[in-house]
Amino acid sequence: MVGSEAVPFVKTGGLADVLGGLPPALARAGHDVAVVIPKYRKVDLFGAERVFHELPVWLGGHLHTVAVDRVTDRGVQFLFVNCPWAFDREGIYNVGNNDYYDNHIRFALFSRAAIEVARRVFRPNVIHAHDWQASLTAPYLKTSHSSDPTFFGVKTVLTIHNLGYQGQFALGLGHELGLDPAMLGPGGPLEFHGSLNFLKSGIVFADAISTVSKAYAGEIQTAEFGFGLDGLLRSRADVLSGILNGVDYSEWNPEHDRYIPRNYSADALEGKKECKRSLLGEFGLPEENMERPLIGIVSRFASQKGFDLVAEVARGLVDLGASLAVLGSGDPGYENMFRGLAAWRPDRVGLRIGYDNPLSHRIEAGADMFLMPSRYEPCGLNQIYSLRYGTIPIVRATGGLDDTIKEGTGFKFWSYAGHDLYECIRVAVQAYEDREGWTEMMVRAMREDFSWDVSAREYGALYDSLVKPAAGGVAA
Ligand code: ADP
Ligand code: GLC
Repeated sequence: MVGSEAVPFVKTGGLADVLGGLPPALARAGHDVAVVIPKYRKVDLFGAERVFHELPVWLGGHLHTVAVDRVTDRGVQFLFVNCPWAFDREGIYNVGNNDYYDNHIRFALFSRAAIEVARRVFRPNVIHAHDWQASLTAPYLKTSHSSDPTFFGVKTVLTIHNLGYQGQFALGLGHELGLDPAMLGPGGPLEFHGSLNFLKSGIVFADAISTVSKAYAGEIQTAEFGFGLDGLLRSRADVLSGILNGVDYSEWNPEHDRYIPRNYSADALEGKKECKRSLLGEFGLPEENMERPLIGIVSRFASQKGFDLVAEVARGLVDLGASLAVLGSGDPGYENMFRGLAAWRPDRVGLRIGYDNPLSHRIEAGADMFLMPSRYEPCGLNQIYSLRYGTIPIVRATGGLDDTIKEGTGFKFWSYAGHDLYECIRVAVQAYEDREGWTEMMVRAMREDFSWDVSAREYGALYDSLVKPAAGGVAA
């Protein structure tokens, strides 16, 4: 696996949960798995073993030297590309709102380094790259390394976690990537409307492409969700599939969650009340909110996530009797929108701007409902975590949200419109009044199972289809 973040080492979003959860599940299923990720400043490598001191990596005519450090965790080798000038920086992709000017070099180098790791440290049958940061692995293998016997028969998988992030850069920087200049020409694999596009080249060259829910695999082939790549994706539909993300229930389970004030389960729900009381206190919301539905939000503040709809319905939602506990950061416009709501009704809207993993667990446990009105959502993880915490999801029926939430475990609305979200919340708040029915719904939600082992079997079958000849067939 090659990707830019993985729990427990470094995380900005769901990709890290996936690279922390899927590889150990594959290992449990008998696969031999290594995950290659960059060694950022934030990554604490205490206890790591240096497995390669000076690994040469060529990029665009320059020779770079990186070290490789290994941490073995839950049966998986996490191999860190240690290259201080590229990754020993304050941020991962950006500082403040500014992306690093050399991200194209940083992640091209990372992809080249992953290929060298595959040559010298860990020899795989399949290289499985995630998102644009690792997308160049397939184009490198299929072009500059195509006559390298080390990689004969090695297959590539590209998983798209979010088509909204493609890794686009000025076309003039293309010569720094060490790829055939013909690939940069108009309509070439790396060119997209006059820019470089890392993800596009991965889509062109990968042997198989997956995305993180079945619904999203269909959606990205339409103009509405395709971000301009829908035509290309349609042309690769024969190798494109959707495999739903799983959940690491050793991290996300109210029965033994170490971050929440009291543990609880579907058979013993009393602890959840205590979690709610404590969460209200933490957000400075008055005790009287115990009798009202408390809606949780934990999110990156990005336009993908549907917060303009929340702005539209917030006042109505408070009039319905609900209160909000919000944790997130990102787009300053949404941060200010939430600041405005919290200033308007400090008794009903609690807000923390920032990134806080323990608090995200306490919101999952303490809220009654969890809101994800996304414009689009490739998979979405918090709604699945919410199910296990008996925190009923209110979601827009798109992508993975549609695939994971059904009538009886959550509430869905379809059109991306404030009025529809409001109606959906109104129905949920009304359902909350029927305490017995609500408890039944919580228990149903808590009994749903989205463990990684199910998804790992699907990935295993995908790998097998690539590396094992079909019955009676001949290996390529
Ligand atoms: P995305 O990857 O698009 O951000 P997902 O729902 O797949 O969305 O995953 C988001 C992950 O990041 C979840 O594990 C969520 O708990 C976590 N997360 C998002 N924002 C925050 C935050 N402000 N503080 C702590 N965790 C957060
Ligand atoms: C992306 C998507 C999210 C998905 C996550 C992990 O960040 O936005 O929907 O759950 O990747 O696959």
